[in-house]
Amino acid sequence: MRKNFEITAVHGREIIDCRGYPTVQVDVWVDNAVLGRANVACGRSKGTHEAFELRDGGKRYAGFGVRKAIDNVNKVIAPEVMSKDVRDRRKLDKLMIEMDGTENKAKLGANAILGVSLAIARAAASSLGIPLYKYINSNAYILPVPMMNLINGGKLTSNYLDFQEFILMPVGAETFSEALRITSEINIVLRDILVEKYGKLAVNVGDEGGCSPPMREIREAMDMLVKAVEMAGYANKVVYAFDIASTGLYDKRTEKYAVEGRRLSREELIELYKELVTSYPIVSIEDPLYEDDFEGFATLTKELGVQIVGDDLFTTNTKRLAKGIEMKAANSLLWKVNQVGSLSEALDAAALAFRNGYSVVVSERSGETEDDTIADLAVGLNAGQIKAGAPVRAERTCKYNRLLQIEEELGPVARYAGKNFRQPF
Ligand code: PGA
Ligand code: ZN
Repeated sequence: MRKNFEITAVHGREIIDCRGYPTVQVDVWVDNAVLGRANVACGRSKGTHEAFELRDGGKRYAGFGVRKAIDNVNKVIAPEVMSKDVRDRRKLDKLMIEMDGTENKAKLGANAILGVSLAIARAAASSLGIPLYKYINSNAYILPVPMMNLINGGKLTSNYLDFQEFILMPVGAETFSEALRITSEINIVLRDILVEKYGKLAVNVGDEGGCSPPMREIREAMDMLVKAVEMAGYANKVVYAFDIASTGLYDKRTEKYAVEGRRLSREELIELYKELVTSYPIVSIEDPLYEDDFEGFATLTKELGVQIVGDDLFTTNTKRLAKGIEMKAANSLLWKVNQVGSLSEALDAAALAFRNGYSVVVSERSGETEDDTIADLAVGLNAGQIKAGAPVRAERTCKYNRLLQIEEELGPVARYAGKNFRQPF
């Protein structure tokens, strides 16, 4: 093991994400010998209450450049973090949060702070000679159920489906590798039957790698998924979930949700969910109501009896989560590190969720990169669930492939969360 844990260099650079938009990459060097590198992912269907993503504006990269954030990494954060002990990760996160001084990281940018925060965690783990998941939690052993977004709609693609994500959960598999194989086999069948019914344009994929067929109706998408599952022979191994991303469907002025060409009240939308949950084995619904309707979330959580996940509702923010817990709004936290902008704060949010009986779903962003950090974080949290898109395209598969490596590394210690995904430990 090393003797010197001193941070000897911090270097940020601008890279591009899977959509071709710029994002932040940070290198943290320890003792001039060990590298921790992390990329920051970016959302498209974002919550209003997320931490601030600093973009340059102007003409370069259509205004999406991150040179200002990179400058903040290299000129403002780096001098303060240099020579510090990389094992003091929490202290260093706190230091950056204080240097920023704003409620939502508007000064330095959440993308600048998070890049350094994650690179420090990676560098700390590597200098200690342990994998990141073990560094997060020495008792990490649970492999998450992959929530595979096989049909994309909403803001993540260009079809007419209003719900953003139609998700498969292979809870009946024995291991993570079996889960991955099952969903990949189903996805292959799904592509074939979609081409057969709608023509080859139907299998163009959305931002998260799921097919984006030219459909309007929710039941039509669900029926195709169910058919693919049955044809692949896995009806008894799979359940379903939605991410509605309903803030994008909500009109604040009329207080109505636009679904399948209709304008639904909150109550009518809840009725629709009840019907869908009765018709299909749906076990989880994310963002069923718009991001500030804590009260509606509380009613729906009580009435629906399935996992209700708060994404835009909580934005991985302990204050918003605490409010949700108080009001019994949702029963699950969608966990995206860049929504809050530092690893320490995100870990605090997860701990708060677990303490109060809320489940935790570790999640990608639609704008990902080849960085596989969230796979380690999902195992590190023993979260039991991970959303990393469909099992295609390298920015999605790198997370699943990393989970295969972790499963192998853990050997007989590994447990696949399976049907216990809401309470895996
Ligand atoms: P985003 O979408 O990464 O674009 O926010 C994913 C989601 O809503 O879960
Ligand atoms: Zn979401």
